[in-house]
Amino acid sequence: MFNNLFRKKSVQNILAEAAKGESDGHGGDASLTRTLTVRDLTAFGIAAIIGAGIFSTIGKAASDGGPGVIFLFIFTAIACSFAAFAYAEFASLVPVSGSAYTYSYVAFGELTAWIIGWALIMEYAIGNITVAISWSDYFTGLLSSINIPSLGITGIHVPDWMCTDYLTISKGYKDAVALMNSGKSFTNLDPALQMAYKAWNDAPQLLGLHLIADIPALVIIILITWLVYRGMKESRNASNAMVVIKLAIILLVISVGIFYVDTNKWNPFAPNGVSGILKGVSAVFFAYIGFDAISTTAEECKDPQRDLPRGMMWAIIICTILYVVIALVLTGMVSYKELAVGDPLAFVFQKLNLKWLSGIIGISAIVAMASVLLVFQMGQPRIWMSMSRDGLLPKQFSKIHPKFKTPSFATIITGFVVAIPSLFMNLTIVTDLCSIGTLFAFTLVCAGVLRLSILPNAPKGKFKTPYINSKYIIPFLAVFFIVTSFVYNKENTMSFLKNEPKMYDATTFVTSLNQSELITVKQLAAEHKNRGEDMEHYLTNLDSSEYKAFIDAAQIDPTKKYESGWSLFKHKIPLWIFFLISLVTLYYCIKYSLSLIPVLGFLSCLYMMSELGVSNWIGFTIWLLIGLMIYFSYGYANSKLAKKVSEDLG
Ligand code: ALA
Repeated sequence: MFNNLFRKKSVQNILAEAAKGESDGHGGDASLTRTLTVRDLTAFGIAAIIGAGIFSTIGKAASDGGPGVIFLFIFTAIACSFAAFAYAEFASLVPVSGSAYTYSYVAFGELTAWIIGWALIMEYAIGNITVAISWSDYFTGLLSSINIPSLGITGIHVPDWMCTDYLTISKGYKDAVALMNSGKSFTNLDPALQMAYKAWNDAPQLLGLHLIADIPALVIIILITWLVYRGMKESRNASNAMVVIKLAIILLVISVGIFYVDTNKWNPFAPNGVSGILKGVSAVFFAYIGFDAISTTAEECKDPQRDLPRGMMWAIIICTILYVVIALVLTGMVSYKELAVGDPLAFVFQKLNLKWLSGIIGISAIVAMASVLLVFQMGQPRIWMSMSRDGLLPKQFSKIHPKFKTPSFATIITGFVVAIPSLFMNLTIVTDLCSIGTLFAFTLVCAGVLRLSILPNAPKGKFKTPYINSKYIIPFLAVFFIVTSFVYNKENTMSFLKNEPKMYDATTFVTSLNQSELITVKQLAAEHKNRGEDMEHYLTNLDSSEYKAFIDAAQIDPTKKYESGWSLFKHKIPLWIFFLISLVTLYYCIKYSLSLIPVLGFLSCLYMMSELGVSNWIGFTIWLLIGLMIYFSYGYANSKLAKKVSEDLG
């Protein structure tokens, strides 16, 4: 049983199956068509990378990190490039559609491959839910800004209950009611809560259920799924056109914005230090997700072994340059403090009264996000197709449409899997899950390259990552890290190790208070000369020593002021896991003289995972457990390898 779980596929076997189309009698001439060149692949990469990340989630990251967020962009780009080398190496070795899933099948065996395939649903399907929700926000925002007085049109307003998810509205409604019961007037509520309160009351009801759903998100998914179903050529042409539009507009934003940059705004460069910058890990990483998606088109490339590595690298390089310049321009145009908005690019130009440009940015955001949707909506069915060929999913998933030459059944299922949750789910949850699932795949692909490198008869592809011996460099980096932590950052390091109690931030503190505690805190604030300002706002604007003095003086249950014990320690578990795995990696680097680039890719992606918070780890673990249950109830018995003699590379 144990050996069966790690049964591996050989490269020859995978290539032979792919060449045969592995039709198993469904779909007639079942092979995909080879039409993609390196230019198309680079364009697909850019299509998948530039989207909701730079048009939306970057705003919050820049407001936390200040202009210094560019360091996070650069660090993430380097980590992604390391991972891209690993992808490229595998893509040139096994140029078939399954991407990380197939690569793990070769390197680690069936169980890990299944886990990766399952985790990739987080990247592609869940990622697309995120993008569809953001697309809907930009689209409805754009409709409401249409102003054509000659036709009597002054904004087309889609009712909020038709373009917002159920969770946001129902939670917002409950919070609004709670605040109004405690004496706050409706007009003093936060605008988001006012919107939720109205939307809940305006929504039609069926059998007592409020009909609230994000309809534009549904519509765009249906349209994109249809396009992907229709064929690779159609998808490629649409994607190429969208990439040209979004690149042209981003260049326009940069070239106009640069004239409004005030370099004084870059001072301080990193106002909240390293921890402020690191708050943006999930958002910034999300902005890079996508370059790997092009590896799922391997069977539709003219020369995948040569072109896939090049396509990925070009896409990352071009996007990194654009991201860094955009981050500098944005933070040079307005203060970083103002950037915590959902549409930062449009916002800065509105602020400078360049409304025409902010309108164009809105259109470009819609196009950019549609192109991300397209590539991800293409990637997911192709991974399922590979899993089905291997017997881990039912045969229907590898059925190729006889006329359109696309994995038709899997494409339609992807449409459902993305469209239905996008009606109801909430943006923050899906962004984080998408980032953790993708990082997990990246770490395993890097680990896969390392594993193959130490197997005696491992197969070799056309592309090889430049070899630098990690044996000396990784121990040096470890020593450097330890010295820096204990010499230059001793206080924080000791507090981390001793698990010293940590102050809650102002928002968590204020929202945890009951009525009488709130009154106590307000009285204290009045003594500190707060003139009726909202408590959360007042406390957020204190500097950290003033804030500490304030909450220390407040006569409130100490557990509401400081987090300590297990409650605090649990947030550190991901980082401790990172340290432990790093130690093991260090040992392997010394023992096997591993190649530096995949080692750095592995460690940097793992580090980013550890920054994503324990609740995401728990959500992701539950997701993997569900996947394992499905594997043991279907894939384990139906796997093609179960019926063939195991071909063990190790
Ligand atoms: N990188 C993609 C985006 O930002 C997922 O939308």
